[in-house]
Amino acid sequence: MNKDFLDLSQWSAQELEDIFDLTRDLKARQKRGESHQLLAGKTLGMVFEKSSTRTRISFEVGMYQLGGHALFLSSGTTQMGRGEPIEDTARVMSRYVDGLMVRTYSHDIVEQLAQHASIPVINGLTDLTHPCQIMADLFTVIEHKGSFRDLSYCWIGDGNNMAHSWINAAAVLGFELRVATPKGYEPDAAIVERANKMGANILYTNDPFVAAKDAHVLNTDVWASMGQEQEQKIREKAFAGFQLNQGIVEAADRESIVLHCLPAHRGEEITHEVIEGPHSVVFDEAENRLHVQKAIMATLMGKSLC
Ligand code: CP
Ligand code: NVA
Repeated sequence: MNKDFLDLSQWSAQELEDIFDLTRDLKARQKRGESHQLLAGKTLGMVFEKSSTRTRISFEVGMYQLGGHALFLSSGTTQMGRGEPIEDTARVMSRYVDGLMVRTYSHDIVEQLAQHASIPVINGLTDLTHPCQIMADLFTVIEHKGSFRDLSYCWIGDGNNMAHSWINAAAVLGFELRVATPKGYEPDAAIVERANKMGANILYTNDPFVAAKDAHVLNTDVWASMGQEQEQKIREKAFAGFQLNQGIVEAADRESIVLHCLPAHRGEEITHEVIEGPHSVVFDEAENRLHVQKAIMATLMGKSLC
């Protein structure tokens, strides 16, 4: 049976650490200009039902660097957009490509594709989770802090797909996470319950300063995610006070790092001063999407380095 990358909660700590090790190796090889064509002759199908800059480019370039090829498939120009059943799409694509990356709205869609495909399926963001982003975020933490362990992580903002993936990661990898959301915008109850059952060390609060106090890693995201654009004005009111600004940075550890998955709305969830400031590592984080996803694809679709 093939393995999918739909959610971090389906992977063990050891498996995720193996991906970080492979990421480090692949990144070093790429920086040295050494060939690392672990997916020569392989093809990745990339289905996008939402916009993307980082995800599309990093997967496409990543496949090229691994010696393979990536196909951009927008739902609007395939038969998926005209209602071809997901199970048929999954079975047909499995006859052509070696792996499928999917960015969509409902998480059910990636789960159904994975259920009916005979090739690995990678979640490139759903309304529920964004696991590839958190892998890049954690790899960035490892680069800047030496390890992801023994650190306290702070999430400020919406209880959205990014927050859910941080919760899943904290549950699997065992780090301390504090999640501050406005009332009414808390994370999904089922994700919280599963993390609790896994023994996760997570504090949920409506006070951003409680979450930020002495934290080593500060993280936020847009207040209105893709598909929520019509809620922008209501959310601006609800999220006032949940901005990652200089006050939050000062409440955190003196050597904290600031993450943001991007795209960012400067002046809303994060200030210009903070995102451009000395604690921000957001462009390393964006670059690491490329390296970590190459490791994920090689793990799922390829042979190992020797
Ligand atoms: N962070 C992220 O997934 O960016 P894109 O929406 O540009 O892919
Ligand atoms: N929460 C954001 C993340 C974008 C990368 C969204 O879903 O739009």
